[in-house]
Amino acid sequence: MRRTNADDCIQKRILEAWSLVFTNLAVELSDLRTTYVSDQGILDVLKGVSLSVPQGQIFGIIGRSGAGKSTLLRCLNGLERPVSGEIFIQQQSLIHVTKIDRRKILHKIGTVFQHFNLLSRRTVLQNIALPLEFMGMPADEITVKAQKIAALVGLSDKHNAYPRQLSGGQRQRVAIARALVSDVTLLLCDEFTSALDPETSLEILSLLRDLNQRLGITIVLVTHDISVIREICDQVCVLDQGHVVETGSVESILLRPQHEVTQSLVSHLFIKDLPRAIHDSIHDAPLENDYVVLRLMFSDTTAFQPAIASIIQKFNVPINIIVGSLGHVREATFGSMVVTMPTEGLSKGDSFLSEILTYFNTHHIAAEILGYIPSP
Ligand SMILES: Nc1ncnc2c1ncn2[C@@H]1O[C@H](COP(=O)(O)OP(=O)(O)OP(=O)(O)O)[C@@H](O)[C@H]1O
Ligand SMILES: [Mg+2]
Repeated sequence: MRRTNADDCIQKRILEAWSLVFTNLAVELSDLRTTYVSDQGILDVLKGVSLSVPQGQIFGIIGRSGAGKSTLLRCLNGLERPVSGEIFIQQQSLIHVTKIDRRKILHKIGTVFQHFNLLSRRTVLQNIALPLEFMGMPADEITVKAQKIAALVGLSDKHNAYPRQLSGGQRQRVAIARALVSDVTLLLCDEFTSALDPETSLEILSLLRDLNQRLGITIVLVTHDISVIREICDQVCVLDQGHVVETGSVESILLRPQHEVTQSLVSHLFIKDLPRAIHDSIHDAPLENDYVVLRLMFSDTTAFQPAIASIIQKFNVPINIIVGSLGHVREATFGSMVVTMPTEGLSKGDSFLSEILTYFNTHHIAAEILGYIPSP
């Protein structure tokens, strides 16, 4: 098969991107501060944000509405200028730089927004080609390149369709293709699946993961939806009122959220709230005949282990499962369960309970005493 310029170009981008993977950061922010000035006065939005995004990762930024997520993304694509702090894109400063170099850096960054922003009078291919036209590329090269990217995002059969003839998912594919067409190495996505139904969202997220792996591009995405983070991100940073309050791998943030904002964001993925009857009667210190209430968190392979059955057999203790669920964090399976068991039946005191907790923990199941309830 004849190799085209576009083939060579994609090949080159893959090599360039992967050569950077182990050595470089795609994005580095240091003490970034932004303000908005309005009739009401000066509003501090980002209040000293520092974070690092390794090359080739899918990095999620999550936070409540108004946390400053979109402002942060707009700083990265040059639409917003911080009042202080530094932004490095692939080790080049976006702040202390000449206008020409700044433009060169920004050419390597593509952005996808929630509302696609396609031109209604242009076909799919013409929409995708737009950035190349702005760059002054020759028409025949533009066509080859736009067709190549259209194929990458699964739109080969829609070249001549207009946006009104496309589904929401197809429109978002056009927007992604347009953002990628000028050989970007960094893709920014702002709430880009919010306008899609859950099934289409999953399709678009899997397309992004595929593009990330095939082209080696780094993706920074902003969302308020923890399930988007769970689906495709490698690392996540939690933003609250202009501060980074927590950052880490998706697994650690979702399975062991530390900050109250993170806990509230992930709470709907896990069963954290106790059933009403237990909630109303739970207390801290055990009374005679009480049952202990434990919350168990499973992850990865431990979710498949018959841990509860093992405990019942090993310690000869009845365990009641109150609530439980299984889910996943990317490829990892997790489970959350609230169980109760008698303390009186144990009759061997606290050390016996400690032994049970140790047993759980040595089997990589995080066990936490939530309190005690009267025997049912
Ligand atoms: N152009 C602007 N002028 C004045 N204030 C603004 C402007 N843009 C954003 N803000 C304010 O800055 C704060 C952060 O806004 P931003 O859009 O970054 O939040 P967000 O985390 O993206 O929220 P959401 O999840 O609702 O999109 C908000 O209080 C917002 O009202
Ligand atoms: Mg926003």
